[in-house]
Amino acid sequence: MRALVTGAGGQLGRSVARVLAAEHDVVPLTRGELDITDEPRVRAGVAEACPGVIVNCAAYNAVDDAEDDVVAALEVNAFGVRSLARAAAACGATLVHYGTDFVFDGTASEPYREDDAPNPQSVYAASKLLGEWFARSARHYVLRVESLFGGPARLAGADGRRLGGSLDRIADALLDGREVRAFVDRVVSPSYVEDVAAATLALLRGAPAPGLYHCVGSGRGTWFDVATALAEELGVEPVIRGITLDDLALRAARPRFCALSNRKLAAAGVEMPHWRDAVARYAHARRASPRES
Ligand SMILES: NC(=O)c1ccc[n+]([C@@H]2O[C@H](COP(=O)([O-])OP(=O)(O)OC[C@H]3O[C@@H](n4cnc5c(N)ncnc54)[C@H](OP(=O)(O)O)[C@@H]3O)[C@@H](O)[C@H]2O)c1
Repeated sequence: MRALVTGAGGQLGRSVARVLAAEHDVVPLTRGELDITDEPRVRAGVAEACPGVIVNCAAYNAVDDAEDDVVAALEVNAFGVRSLARAAAACGATLVHYGTDFVFDGTASEPYREDDAPNPQSVYAASKLLGEWFARSARHYVLRVESLFGGPARLAGADGRRLGGSLDRIADALLDGREVRAFVDRVVSPSYVEDVAAATLALLRGAPAPGLYHCVGSGRGTWFDVATALAEELGVEPVIRGITLDDLALRAARPRFCALSNRKLAAAGVEMPHWRDAVARYAHARRASPRES
């Protein structure tokens, strides 16, 4: 099947394009090749490629900047997804889109399920929730992921910034022998891009009922737990300082508890590895491919 991957220059997009290529005819499109906020180009590009599936890895992910940059966040995370969903529906394609744990307010004490009510607390979170809703106008799989990691250590984004998330930056600091600050009051289920990409491939293969699925590293831990496990796997002596959300004056609110349950995905036949297992594989890959300084 032809798979059109948007946002193919990002950390998940690179992984998804590579992993899907094992079974599909992948057309990877970076932002320069297809800007998803350009609806006429999206419509024409999708009609021309005539894909069986569009996998949207494009996003506006600057959580704090979005508080002031509301229009830009909505254009990419909400209306860009609407354009892709409309284009997918027009040519009978399935849309795979990625959501976020931030749609929840973080007041739960057990992992969130797909039928728990969202309550976004930031512009970024609201824009991503709108994107989930817009995705529904096509046959869709919306996979909520969180704390993504596994961005390539050697490659930089279009603007020269390092690709990757918080965990990648923690790995950089640990490998450089720098102090790491990690939240003791934020509980997460970190998601390895390789596992999310493999789950995407498995979903397309198994074709379970379309809809919303949580797709995160199984289990949960605080960021402090995650940083400690990563240091162990990297074989470095860590200097990790535990901090709380109140210690930082972040512009956008972060949910304190955002572990997600993978139960629905598992029932569809797709098992997500535990985050500790994912961190071990990631650390192995980082040791094998040290960062260029
Ligand atoms: N990172 C996380 O921790 C996290 C957590 C929860 C959910 N997610 C979701 O997971 C998905 C993948 O995230 P990621 O971490 O791989 O993000 P990423 O590394 O920031 O990649 C996003 C990609 O989207 C591209 N992009 C931005 N605006 C675009 C536009 N208008 N048209 C086309 N492409 C555009 C970016 O290009 P430029 O580099 O040129 O800007 C970048 O290559 C997203 O839906 C994200 O919201 C991520």
